[in-house]
Amino acid sequence: MTQKQQKVVILDFGSQYTQLIARRVREAGVYSEIHPCGISMSRLEELAPSALILSGGPASVSDPESPGLESSVLSLGCPVLGICYGMQLLAGMCGGKVQRSENREYGRANLEVLEDSPLFKGVAGPGDGLKVWMSHGDTVLEAPGGFSVSARTDQVDVAAMADAQRQIHCLQFHPEVSHTEGGDRILRNFLFEVANLEPTWSMASFIESQIQTVREQVGSSKVVCGLSGGIDSTVVAVLLHQALGDQLHCIFVDNGLLRADEGEEVVQYLRRHFDLNLSYVQAQEEFLSKLEGVSDPEEKRRIVGNTFIEVFEREAKDIAGVRYLAQGTLYPDVIESVSSKGPSAVIKTHHNVGGLPERMNLELIEPLRELFKDEVRKVAVELGLPDFLVWRHPFPGPGLAIRMIGPLHAEGLEILRQSDKIVHNELMASGWYFKIWQGFAVLLPMKTVGVMGDERTYEHVIALRMVESTDAMTADWAKLPDDLLSRMSNRIINEVRGVNRVVLDVSSKPPSTIEWE
Ligand code: XMP
Repeated sequence: MTQKQQKVVILDFGSQYTQLIARRVREAGVYSEIHPCGISMSRLEELAPSALILSGGPASVSDPESPGLESSVLSLGCPVLGICYGMQLLAGMCGGKVQRSENREYGRANLEVLEDSPLFKGVAGPGDGLKVWMSHGDTVLEAPGGFSVSARTDQVDVAAMADAQRQIHCLQFHPEVSHTEGGDRILRNFLFEVANLEPTWSMASFIESQIQTVREQVGSSKVVCGLSGGIDSTVVAVLLHQALGDQLHCIFVDNGLLRADEGEEVVQYLRRHFDLNLSYVQAQEEFLSKLEGVSDPEEKRRIVGNTFIEVFEREAKDIAGVRYLAQGTLYPDVIESVSSKGPSAVIKTHHNVGGLPERMNLELIEPLRELFKDEVRKVAVELGLPDFLVWRHPFPGPGLAIRMIGPLHAEGLEILRQSDKIVHNELMASGWYFKIWQGFAVLLPMKTVGVMGDERTYEHVIALRMVESTDAMTADWAKLPDDLLSRMSNRIINEVRGVNRVVLDVSSKPPSTIEWE
């Protein structure tokens, strides 16, 4: 069967774990898409899902404002799995009883399996116990008619239930969370035992289907794509080049805030290996003149974002017939921007070029919007991109501007670039570059006293920020070997003029963040 015929649609009711469900399904080899819970029935029919998963969510089904679902969803004829809120919703729709609880049950619970169920196949049988992850307020008091209850916990009488005939399965706990014992198998059982899907999806089929979709969407129009030197935009460019050839125009804006050689490396690689339409715009002066002396981190982000838009717009105007803008938006960016619960506190505005599509009247193409960073890396490998691109550490859009704490000045950028190059080279030479999430230098807005030869010095301080992380949401400082840290420190102080002290950042995120600004 082709991927088009096999698609799991996940309806998002606002759970923090929705993304994990999608990821687990993809890891099982089945294509999945997340859609908002408010999706219309006609759109859902158009999507023709092979199976439907309803996510958890923070609402209570007894709240009149809570998100619902049209009952005709159940006539789509595909198997349905409801998780947590999704279960309570289905219970209510099918005539069961749901009880509101003031106390949220959160964390580990002991699940007792009561009877065999296809979901528990190979995981647990009647009388067996499982450690599962719960996070819910409401509970199902009475299963609807036609449903059998296959598991309970001390707190919850109906922790798993199913209407085998209608292929509706419900779990009060979260199988997608790694703390749930056998959770992965439970999800796979839904896909393969209940929905009879086949694990035919892979990154190769992802690329193939994206190429096809983009071709259909774009027709003979032109697409413009901003390159940043990072893996996300490079993958988008290479993917779209395969799909559209000459119809794609890439623009790389050098803002003067890149690492040493970073822009050159990517541009040269792309020029050598792909016959891309690629403009390399040198706009360093334009950015620096606006940033000089600016201290506030958000102001720096705003200036970099706005200047990028101005430069990009100017360049793109010269390309006739452009209708689309391609961006390397990833899934974490998508959830941040569609949060249904209103704006959460803005810690840092990462969306550096928001507003560009509206301003230029362009439609967006975002082929990576369903993926996580590590999945983008898999796509990059599949596309044959080299290691230096695939494993490149994430680099913020505002670049070195937010690694120079306090007022921005050109001399500081040079100090930072040279220090960063040493850090990069040492991480590469020792192999640690590939073991950590990010490693970089930060320039502090202060001078301290030192002694070099017999002379007193009064120079800048560089901080080393080395972190381990899987998704940048949380991070810990990386425990690099002492001799590697010593080498970095010695080299920076000896080779970079204007630095006489190097310190190490030993904070985790939270409460700190990865970048200092
Ligand atoms: P923080 O500092 O929030 O960073 O812990 C998390 C991840 O995001 C990157 N980052 C940015 N990326 N524009 C970006 O494109 C930004 O303004 C920005 N600020 C931080 C950071 O490098 C880390 O990978």
